[in-house]
Amino acid sequence: MAKKERANFGTKLGVILATAGSAVGLGNIWRFPYQAGEHGGAAFILIYLGCVLLLGISIMVAEFLIGRHSRANTARAYQVLAPGTPWKWVGRLGVLTGFLILSYYSVVAGWTLEFVGEAATGNLTGKTASAFKTAFEAFTANPWRPALWTLLFLLITHLIVVRGVEKGIERASKIMMPVLLLLLMVLAVCAMTLPNAMRGVEFLLKPDFSKVNSDVFLGALGQAFFSLSLGMGCLCTYASYFKKETNLTKTAFNVSIIDTVVAILAGLIIFPAAFSVNITPNAGAELVFITLPNVFQQAFGGVPVLSYIFSLLFYLLLALAALTSTISMHEVVTAFLHEELKLTRKRAAALVTLGCAVLGILCSLSLGIGRDYTLFGMTLFDLFDKGTAKIMLPVGGLFISIFTGWFLDKKIVRAEITNDGSLKVPLYRLIIVLLKYVAPISIALVFINELGIL
Ligand code: TRP
Repeated sequence: MAKKERANFGTKLGVILATAGSAVGLGNIWRFPYQAGEHGGAAFILIYLGCVLLLGISIMVAEFLIGRHSRANTARAYQVLAPGTPWKWVGRLGVLTGFLILSYYSVVAGWTLEFVGEAATGNLTGKTASAFKTAFEAFTANPWRPALWTLLFLLITHLIVVRGVEKGIERASKIMMPVLLLLLMVLAVCAMTLPNAMRGVEFLLKPDFSKVNSDVFLGALGQAFFSLSLGMGCLCTYASYFKKETNLTKTAFNVSIIDTVVAILAGLIIFPAAFSVNITPNAGAELVFITLPNVFQQAFGGVPVLSYIFSLLFYLLLALAALTSTISMHEVVTAFLHEELKLTRKRAAALVTLGCAVLGILCSLSLGIGRDYTLFGMTLFDLFDKGTAKIMLPVGGLFISIFTGWFLDKKIVRAEITNDGSLKVPLYRLIIVLLKYVAPISIALVFINELGIL
């Protein structure tokens, strides 16, 4: 019964684009640049690319095969594959992680709606760089506006998840993703023409390894998991909707490439733009919402109508990219509650939306009137962001790789990766070595280092 209500991806392209829709989101365009900025630029990016290549792709294949083989929500998947063992807690941890990420992610997703509104009404035109900064700070500190946008975004996500993610999302992704890519390329070219742009490109491409410490590694690792939607069973849930013929390894490669290209393009826009208006690249979470509107003004300075069209289109696409990601997270928690607690799908979704609304509003307030309430020296928003990306997702990834590399019957692993022997996968052995040794050891080392044990 539950299966019928779940989404089913139709075409091969649909599978890639829907999965890429989950992966590509605020993580690429908002989080990646500010993480790179905070962690010193080019060296961080190199380590990030290493994480995607060595850990991201193999763990993505692992999540895919767990999901497709068990055809169940992520907690149930472990019960199907390893009945009566504590492995189900890996799935449950994932569901909790998804719930927490969705809560604070919806806040930033809400900001994109504010900017769609601002762009549409022409309010972004003609402002100076410092006016953007003041306006954004006033907006996020306001107790009402961002909270209302958070609620609206959650509501839209809710309505789509309740109706099922079938054709709508798959079809929307097919149009949206190419337009987003094209727009990012145009903007990157525009950003390069800004004064001082080359200092930004240098920051992005010239590594300074003297700044690398264990926190940079953990930051890059966490960002790789976050951006690829890994470590919480999200892609595992999506793979439970894949067909038998889907080539898991190829899909993982394609999705990772699309995701990485979008992140690098975002960097090529933000950093030249930030340097050109003297904003330091480690300005933090608001980088995209302050520097970007300014690029739209400057890059098309002579032709206001172009600035108008580009900013509107950009924030609209950013909101849509965020939406395909929030849907994928919401779906994980909803599918879990629906199937495990035997709630109707509608009730399950309502519970998720309500819970996220409460936490999301608290996160939003923690950037304004609740700024002084901190935990471990962080605002609630930062705590959710860092706690999930730097701890919960890598821990999830660690267990997923150990489960697939060591615990799961190799016959199942081989059958899923090669589609019952019908596909030649030359990288099969490499993937197994990565899952068995490289992923668990490197994630563990990064943690041990960060905790200062070594
Ligand atoms: N990857 C998405 C982004 O970059 C966010 C996301 C969706 C996510 N599903 C996830 C992050 C699951 C971690 C786990 O915006």
